[in-house]
Amino acid sequence: MTRELSLASSVEATLRPLGPVDRLAHLLQRFGSDLRIASSFGLEDAVVVHLAARARDATGIVPRVFMLDTGRLHPETYDLVEQFRDTYAIPIALYAPAAEAVETYTLTRGPNAFYRSKEARKACCEIRKIEPLGRALSGAKAWVTGLRREQSDGRASVSLVEDDATRPSVIKVNPLYDWTWDTLTRFAKDENVPVHPLIAKGYPSIGCAPCTRAIAPGEHPRAGRWYWEEPDHKECGIHESPRAKKKELA
Ligand code: ADX
Ligand code: SF4
Repeated sequence: MTRELSLASSVEATLRPLGPVDRLAHLLQRFGSDLRIASSFGLEDAVVVHLAARARDATGIVPRVFMLDTGRLHPETYDLVEQFRDTYAIPIALYAPAAEAVETYTLTRGPNAFYRSKEARKACCEIRKIEPLGRALSGAKAWVTGLRREQSDGRASVSLVEDDATRPSVIKVNPLYDWTWDTLTRFAKDENVPVHPLIAKGYPSIGCAPCTRAIAPGEHPRAGRWYWEEPDHKECGIHESPRAKKKELA
């Protein structure tokens, strides 16, 4: 008796032997506008958008790229969005947080309340990232991220294709899951991918401006993210599994 493959397993089986551009091309052909490409325009995501643009050139299908515009990003990030629009002629949708939720948060807690407690930080990420992500993925069957195993212990088991932990019937594709930082930098250089100017200033991982600092040589690449918090579980929540959330709340 043959068992039917899950969507994630069937997509994984197709993608595994393909090169990076062909993987994106297959996803565009298979899912069309039901595919979304997430990009924060750090090095991983710059490469992902480059691959998506090359896949667009190969298939003629325009990818739906989005950035969660938290309203607190570095000015350089917006400059890079402009540069990508110019270089690749690719539309990039910016998802802003709900104005009323931001207004209530800043009125009741203050604009920089995230420094005061992990709860306040998570609440800000919920408003500025998680809720807008829900809108960015509305109607999606698959989304592409720049997650890599090497990024942190918590990400060590990221796979090429996985079920989205919080959205039934949506799959998450992580085409760079097994890339090292060296592979990534070499690829970006060889392919002339525009890169975020803060990377050269000690920011290998870039999030919101008030929550990201440069790292010192030898520090963990994610040490600059929410740098005032304990290093054990530094995630904004958009990639968290319900299991991790439960553990944290326990
Ligand atoms: S985070 O959870 O700590 O913020 P990280 O910055 O490492 O995540 O990014 C991991 C992946 O999440 C990125 O490769 C990208 O796919 C997605 N992502 C993170 N931030 C954004 C953003 N602002 N807009 C769109 N996608 C994002
Ligand atoms: Fe808010 Fe910082 Fe989270 Fe950005 S990273 S959404 S500013 S707490």
